[in-house]
Amino acid sequence: MIIGVPKEIKDQEARVGVTPAGVKALTEVGHKVLVETQAGAQSGFPDEEYQSAGAEIAGDAGFVWGKSELVVKVKDPIEGEYAYFREGLVLFTYLHLAPLPSLTDKLLESRVIGIAYETVRNRQGALPLLMPMSEVAGRMSVQVGASYLERERGGRGILLGGVPGVPPAQVAILGGGIVGSNAARIALGFGAKVTLIDVNLNRLRELDDIFGGRLYTLASNSYNIAQVTREADLVIGGVLIPGATAPKLVSRAMVAQMKKGAVIVDVAIDQGGCVETARPTSHSDPSYKVDGVVHYCVTNMPGAVPHTSTLALTNSTFPYLLRLANLGAREALRQDAGLAEGLNTWLGKLTYRGVAESQHRAWTPAANVID
Ligand SMILES: NC(=O)c1ccc[n+]([C@@H]2O[C@H](COP(=O)([O-])OP(=O)(O)OC[C@H]3O[C@@H](n4cnc5c(N)ncnc54)[C@H](O)[C@@H]3O)[C@@H](O)[C@H]2O)c1
Repeated sequence: MIIGVPKEIKDQEARVGVTPAGVKALTEVGHKVLVETQAGAQSGFPDEEYQSAGAEIAGDAGFVWGKSELVVKVKDPIEGEYAYFREGLVLFTYLHLAPLPSLTDKLLESRVIGIAYETVRNRQGALPLLMPMSEVAGRMSVQVGASYLERERGGRGILLGGVPGVPPAQVAILGGGIVGSNAARIALGFGAKVTLIDVNLNRLRELDDIFGGRLYTLASNSYNIAQVTREADLVIGGVLIPGATAPKLVSRAMVAQMKKGAVIVDVAIDQGGCVETARPTSHSDPSYKVDGVVHYCVTNMPGAVPHTSTLALTNSTFPYLLRLANLGAREALRQDAGLAEGLNTWLGKLTYRGVAESQHRAWTPAANVID
């Protein structure tokens, strides 16, 4: 199969869909890989590395899209890329179609086979292609928080781990899923005093076991959240109710009660945020203050560490990509019901219920079109 890897053109997107290691594995089994020039440069993968791994470097995005049977990307295509859509092209990438009716229209009109990373499920029913980005964001949230606690960046001037004779910072983590547990690991590693709040008591039991009592766990209710945020130097928001906007667990009044120079990193901002005073920010202007509390609310935190993020993402996407290339889309989808959950559009038909419901459109189950 001919596989195309275009350069991402969405603002500030530096990741790339396939690494040189992926190219090597694909070419070893007889596939041809076309990589657009500079596609991996910002993730630390120069053209020469792709070439030595067996890729053909192409100067022009139109050529890569036009010659490829399967295109692998990171972000949802933007308008400049719609012209490259054509019947039967397999597109494997994040699509996030629910809020994007015009992209949905284009994929359907052009009869593209669109497989979305964010809706692929594994055997446990989890979302394996979202998980790596939550791992990155969770770990990064502590690093970012530690840096904003420095006086130069508007913080209280506190060292996360303290020093002998001086107590460490208090870190409050809301949500103990992938983001929260990764944040806890790093904050404990820094030597901070960490309290994690979740509504799921079984999850708290698991985390208590994993961290051997070094982590303080608390059941989620507004009384506990008010108390913990009042005492915290750093609050990390990582709650998720799948398919819904995040609950506002930290009210404006609670923020007003926080210490001046404390820091909030609301990772859940991509789902609206779990802090009432949080609003989306970008890497070029990441933070602002409300009531003397620093807010960091970047919606695509992994974008700051594209090398790590590309490797983490492609570690997870690559096994699926290899199966799509080896078996062809129809057979790969037939053999893996979890991958078939990723199918959002198939030759003019919308095949994902969530997208259909949010856009009030008709849909056909994936199983009906691939059989
Ligand atoms: N900003 C970014 O760059 C970025 C990157 C990756 C993920 N995210 C976002 O981070 C959020 C968390 O992702 P995740 O992968 O950790 O999700 P997850 O499903 O693994 O974990 C969410 C946790 O929140 C808990 N929760 C739900 N309601 C709660 C409540 N009322 N009180 C306390 N806990 C509650 C759940 O029990 C669960 O343990 C999501 O919104 C995700 O989209 C943002």
